[in-house]
Amino acid sequence: MQQFTPVDLPEWRALETHAEEAKEWHLRELFRTDPERGVRMSLEAAGLFLDYSKNRVTDETMRRLMALAGACGVPAAAEAMFSGKPINATERRPVLHIALRNRSNRPILVEGRDVMSDVRAVLDRMTTLARAVRTGEWRGFTGRPIRNVVNIGIGGSDLGPAMACEALKPFSDRRIALRFISNIDGTHFVEQTRDLDPAETLFLVASKTFTTRETMANAAAARAWCLAAMKDPAAVARHFVALSTNRQEVERFGIDRRNMFEFWDWVGGRYSLCSAIGLPLMIAVGPERFMEMLDGFHSMDRHFLETPLDRNMPVILALLGLWYNNFLGAESHAILPYDQYLARFPAYLQQLDMESNGKNVDRQGRPVRWQTGPIVWGEPGTNGQHAFYQLLHQGTKLVPCDFIGFCRSHNPLGDHHDQLMANFFAQTEALAFGRTSTEVEAAGTPATLVPFKTFKGNRPTNTILAEQLTPQTFGALIALYEHKVFTQGVIWNIYSFDQWGVQLGKELAERIFQETTADGRPPLAHDSSTNHLIRRYRIARGREA
Ligand code: F6P
Repeated sequence: MQQFTPVDLPEWRALETHAEEAKEWHLRELFRTDPERGVRMSLEAAGLFLDYSKNRVTDETMRRLMALAGACGVPAAAEAMFSGKPINATERRPVLHIALRNRSNRPILVEGRDVMSDVRAVLDRMTTLARAVRTGEWRGFTGRPIRNVVNIGIGGSDLGPAMACEALKPFSDRRIALRFISNIDGTHFVEQTRDLDPAETLFLVASKTFTTRETMANAAAARAWCLAAMKDPAAVARHFVALSTNRQEVERFGIDRRNMFEFWDWVGGRYSLCSAIGLPLMIAVGPERFMEMLDGFHSMDRHFLETPLDRNMPVILALLGLWYNNFLGAESHAILPYDQYLARFPAYLQQLDMESNGKNVDRQGRPVRWQTGPIVWGEPGTNGQHAFYQLLHQGTKLVPCDFIGFCRSHNPLGDHHDQLMANFFAQTEALAFGRTSTEVEAAGTPATLVPFKTFKGNRPTNTILAEQLTPQTFGALIALYEHKVFTQGVIWNIYSFDQWGVQLGKELAERIFQETTADGRPPLAHDSSTNHLIRRYRIARGREA
């Protein structure tokens, strides 16, 4: 990959100067002087419509941002990813989640070998298993059909499938209950299995590494729970399936290799929904719908790879995010889906974005002198309107927001959907244009209340609108954000596909686990706060006086 320091590029400097002007702009003024921007600043790709006109940008801003993307080599970087170059350099791996949903006949090579036959073989095996579970052909150890599928995994081995099973619920077979256990907090396991019959329960142990502490502890608890009921170790073969890259550890755990669904080290955990990690979703919605989702991913992949920067939806979202993050001082980015089925989408994007771009050294290992990934957060509308939107409208923080909505509901109920969408449109209008003190006064508001009822506006939003939340649009939506995150990582000159930042906490937890559970009075060599807290916990647990 090209080596550069983004802030030293002339294109970056030009944007800094441009941002000084932009700080004076107001969206009211931008729309007054450019009334057609609401139509012009929009585009369609892979079934998604994006309106980005309610951003503090002009055509000139977009041109300058595009120039930056070009100078940072975004098209070449995309090409390098799609052609299997080892762009995850700190882990010495290619990054090929796009191969998982490559619906064309194009070969994808890793070290000279086409990986597509492996990808298709696993999809075929997943299809066979999903059908067997859905038709009742797959029987538990006592001969009963499977009614509960419990995914045990965490991070990328949980957030994607959990979010997707919720998102595509209207397409799912409601006779099969899907559950997700991720947390090492025993409450999660106990509450998720409390009402389940082990004889009708299939566990999917999902872990790329098959060494993650939380997942291994929950999987061991599941095996014990299952065997306590079935009293025969042979039951494991009918009730446990592994989704992993690590054959050795899967076998060590005692899961039959025929029950293992493989993926590969070139699939990052947070990019793994289309791999074997998607098996719970395939069981829920069936192989056909799963493939439609892959089609949606693939069409956004192609759009990203083949479309010029200035009509490229992920690139546009990336650059707008960068504009606020690096030039206008925003610290966070809100994801606001107006669809209850997308309730877990913000949490999923949190991992995708924050684990990818929460980095403070560049690709040369030097501390960055520029802001990298934002804090990503959000909740579905309209719930959020009655909680945190006050700050979005009248707070002191600049929070760019993505509003995501659909023209048709899966659950037409009275005029609910029209009301939902009225709110959806109203919010971006209110955020952009606000209400001036003159308008407030003209409405007869007492003078003392005018400042409180005034809305400054000028709050930027993107609107993503699609016909309906289908497997296809859903796949395209996820791929849109994946490529947005990728593009930003390229411009920030950081590695988006490793996650060394999660290691320290894990290592310290290992050590502290030994210390909290040891007999006697183990010496503690942490700082005084951590020592004191550990002692207090040990005393409370009766492990020392
Ligand atoms: O702790 C972070 C992480 O490594 C994520 O990147 C990953 O998605 C998650 O843990 C789970 O990892 P695994 O699938 O290997 O259990």
